[in-house]
Amino acid sequence: MENVAAVILAAGKGTRMKSELVKVLHPAAGRTMISWPVDAARAAGAAPTVLVVGHQADAVRGAFAEAADIRCALQEEQLGTGHAVACARQELAGFSGTVLILCGDTPLLRAETLQGLIAFHRQNNAALTVLTAVLDNPFGYGRVVRDASGRVLRIVEQKDATPEERAIREINSGIYCMEAGFLFDNIDSISSDNAQQEFYLTDLVSIAVGQGLACLGSCADDADEIMGVNDRAQLAEAARILRLRINRELMCAGVSLVDPGHSYIDHGVQVGPDTTIHPNCFISGATSIGRGCTIENGVSIKDCVIGDNCHIKAGSVLEGSRLHAAVAVGPMAHLRPGTVLHDHVKIGNFVETKKAVMGEGSKASHLTYLGDAEIGRDVNIGCGTITCNYDGVNKHRTIIGDGVFIGSDVQLVAPVTVGRNSLVAAGTTVTLDVPPDSLAISRVPQVNKEGWRLKKK
Ligand code: UD1
Ligand code: CA
Repeated sequence: MENVAAVILAAGKGTRMKSELVKVLHPAAGRTMISWPVDAARAAGAAPTVLVVGHQADAVRGAFAEAADIRCALQEEQLGTGHAVACARQELAGFSGTVLILCGDTPLLRAETLQGLIAFHRQNNAALTVLTAVLDNPFGYGRVVRDASGRVLRIVEQKDATPEERAIREINSGIYCMEAGFLFDNIDSISSDNAQQEFYLTDLVSIAVGQGLACLGSCADDADEIMGVNDRAQLAEAARILRLRINRELMCAGVSLVDPGHSYIDHGVQVGPDTTIHPNCFISGATSIGRGCTIENGVSIKDCVIGDNCHIKAGSVLEGSRLHAAVAVGPMAHLRPGTVLHDHVKIGNFVETKKAVMGEGSKASHLTYLGDAEIGRDVNIGCGTITCNYDGVNKHRTIIGDGVFIGSDVQLVAPVTVGRNSLVAAGTTVTLDVPPDSLAISRVPQVNKEGWRLKKK
C-alpha cells in the first residue's frame, strides 16, 4: 500500500504483567511482543512507523535502533491514547496520507487484516475507520455505538458506558485507519472530561461524525487477532497461537511435526522439507535445519546451522554449532558454541563439545568431553576421553590428526598434538606430542599379587 504511515502505542507500563520489564518487550514466539505489530505494519506497506514510547523508553528504542523505518516519539506522561497519538505528530510532520494506529500489545494482528482495513477505508473515502470485533464477553473494551441504520456514532469506554451501552458486544480493537489531515487537525480538540480523566483517542469518532465525515467500523473476521495482551496468561495464550501459525506454515512447506501443539519453534527458524520434528523440542534463534533430518523428542537447538539428513536424538542440547550433512548426535549430547561437525560425524550419548571441530566420518560415541579441539577425519575417540583444556588460568588446544584412534579413558593434557594415524592406548594420559603413525601408551605396569584376597581374610 502506498502512502501509509503507522503509529504504534507503546508508552504504557503494563502493570498487570508484574514485571521489571516493560510489557511490549516481553518475548512471544522468539521475538518481542511489539515486533509482531511492527512487522505487520511494515508488511502492510507502512513507512515510516512511529513508536510512541514512555515507560522504559530507552529499552524500547534500543530494540529498534537498527531499523531505518522506525522512529520513536516520547510520551513522558501517559495521559491517554489521544495524547499518545498527538505525541507522534512531530515525527509525521509533512506526511499527508493514511495513518494506521496500532497498539504494541496486539501480537496476533496480521498484515492481511491491516491491508483489508486500509483498502476498505480508502474505497469509502473515510476520514476514520475503526477495526471492531464482536465478542461474547466485551467487558473492559470500548463499545461501538451505531445508529438504527448501522452508522457508527461514537465509541464509549466501559467506565463511561450506560447499562444499555455495556450490553453492546461490538468492541473497539484499538486499531484504526485515519487520514493524517483529519487526525492532526482534530487531535488537540479532544478533552479529558470522562471517567478516567484521560484524553481518549476514541473521541475522534464522534468528532468525525459531527463534521459529517465518513466514519466507519470494519468488523474483524477473527476476533483472536485483535487480542490485547495485558497479563502473562494472555501472553502465553498469544504465544501459543503464534506458534501454531509458525507450525502450520512449516507443515505446509513439507516439515512433519509429530504433534504441532507441542512444538516450540520460534519465529525466523528455517526447516527444510521432509524433516521430522518430534514433540517438546525447543528450536530458537538464528537456526536453520536442512532437509530430511530427524529431531527426536526433547531436543533444544539454539543458533545452529544443521545440514541435510542429520539425526538429533532425544534430549540433546545444541547451541551455536554447525553440523554438515548426515551427522548423528545424542541421545543426551551437549554441543556448545563453536562446535563444527563435518559430514557423517557421530556424537553419542553423554558427549559434550565446545569449540571443537571434527572432520568427516569421525566419531565420539560415548561419555566424552572435547573442548578447544581440532580433530581430523576418520578419527575414533574412545569412551571416556577428556581433553584437559584448562590449566586453571588459560585454555589450550588439542590437535588430533586424520585417522587417529584414541582408546578408552584417555586424557589429552593440552596443549598437545597427536599426529596422523597414531594410536593412543586405553588409559593413557597424553602429556607429550605424539608423532604420526605411532603408539602412545602411558600406563603403570600391572602387578598381580596372587593370593592377596585370601590373606586379607
Ligand atoms: C483502549 C480503547 C478502547 C479499546 C481498547 C482495545 C481508548 C480510550 N480506549 O482502551 O476503546 O477497546 O483500547 O484494547 O483509546 N497508551 C499509551 N499512552 C497512553 C495511554 C495508552 O501509549 O497515555 C498505550 C498503551 O501502552 C497500550 C495502548 O495505548 O498499548 C492502549 O492503552 P490502554 O490504556 O490499554 O487502553 P484501554 O483502556 O485498553
Ligand atoms: Ca488495553
